[in-house]
Amino acid sequence: MSGSMLSAIHVILGVSAFILPVRPLDNGLALTPTMGWLHWERFMCNIDCDTDPHNCISEKLYMEMADVMVKDGWKEAGYEYVCIDDCWPSMARDSQGRLQADPKRFPGGIKKLADYMHSKGLKLGIYADVGTNTCAGYPGSLGHYDIDAKTFAEWGVDLLKFDGCYMPKWTLLAEGYINMSRALNNTGRSILYSCEWPLYEWQFQQPNYTAIQQTCNHWRNYADVFDSWNSVTGILDWTADHQSLIVPVAGPGGWNDPDMLVIGNFGLSRDQQQTQMALWVIMAAPLLMSNDLRDIDPTSQDLLQNRHLISISQDPLGKQGNRTAKVNGFEVWQRPLSGGRLALAVINRQEIGGPRSFPLTLALLPSWRCCNLQCNVTQILPQYQEMGVHSLFSKLQVLVNPTGTALLVVSPVKGKPYTRPQAKKWFYYLKKDKSQSILL
Ligand code: GLA
Repeated sequence: MSGSMLSAIHVILGVSAFILPVRPLDNGLALTPTMGWLHWERFMCNIDCDTDPHNCISEKLYMEMADVMVKDGWKEAGYEYVCIDDCWPSMARDSQGRLQADPKRFPGGIKKLADYMHSKGLKLGIYADVGTNTCAGYPGSLGHYDIDAKTFAEWGVDLLKFDGCYMPKWTLLAEGYINMSRALNNTGRSILYSCEWPLYEWQFQQPNYTAIQQTCNHWRNYADVFDSWNSVTGILDWTADHQSLIVPVAGPGGWNDPDMLVIGNFGLSRDQQQTQMALWVIMAAPLLMSNDLRDIDPTSQDLLQNRHLISISQDPLGKQGNRTAKVNGFEVWQRPLSGGRLALAVINRQEIGGPRSFPLTLALLPSWRCCNLQCNVTQILPQYQEMGVHSLFSKLQVLVNPTGTALLVVSPVKGKPYTRPQAKKWFYYLKKDKSQSILL
């Protein structure tokens, strides 16, 4: 090849590297946010099977959860992955250096558990750590990435949650997470890769989200969720404070992970459970429940299986929503959906008083163009209600309980859009209207 041709190729390669969009991890997985169940928040590191056989971390727990997932409509609703978290392995690797499950609590081994899940049309997730130990002190994968990835693939595992405790130097986090991503890819098995890389890196520097998105299918940014309103709002506030950095990197194949859904446990009221579900759906978050599906109250079950909410979560456009207004103790969050639709959440952040009314005129939303000239409004939460066709300038009132959320879907109705002078006139009247001043 001539020198000039070579340099022409270099120029083309150089230019295309510059203009090609950054791609998320391309393993064909997590094209919509992952749905499933993960043991940590509810069952933690309970390894005492002698006194608490019903709740301890053992193969029985995952098999029972899988049975219920099939029997009670969870699988049908879209929940697919049954995921093991920390505390599953034996304290020592086997003679060939492989991780092994605790023999007393997992007598059948992980392969048998994966087969069990697959026989029910479900998938199995497992947990490991990029450092020398897991957060609960079990063996970590540092120095064993290839063999661990191979072992998980041989067992038939479908998802790996890779934690970030006990890394001897934080500067090794990036290469650790990237090397495990490669090791998983090299196994030839499709294994969804759930990372905690940014959460651990934030303690030292702002993470490189482009690299993270190219390495992981989802990534934890912030502290572990607890079963409390304080924890849920802490996650929402952190997300809103960092939205300009983290929202643009989310999309099919790679998602921000605000941690598990704790709906159906002990700490959230009915309204707070609705807020967690609505906002996780707006954030295009993985829907990984951590609760006891064998014993869950019907209201929480209905909320988690609400098909309108799940269809927003799984919307094919795959765009994460964000907070667009914070006013008078209310927050407005919006997520663009396919077909020019929009999901809109209004949270009442006030923790005193009764239900409060939020005045809503679609023209005042940042994405008002989605509704020019008319749109159909459907309320999904607190209860399903068709609110009918509204013009850009109709005044809707949404009633929201303290710590609760109203979730609406706004769909465009074809018509002739407003002309500029018409719109200008309407905006002028709106501005003069005191009841609407909240959004101006
Ligand atoms: C960390 C993770 C949690 C959980 C525990 C297990 O705290 O962030 O999600 O996996 O470790 O020890």
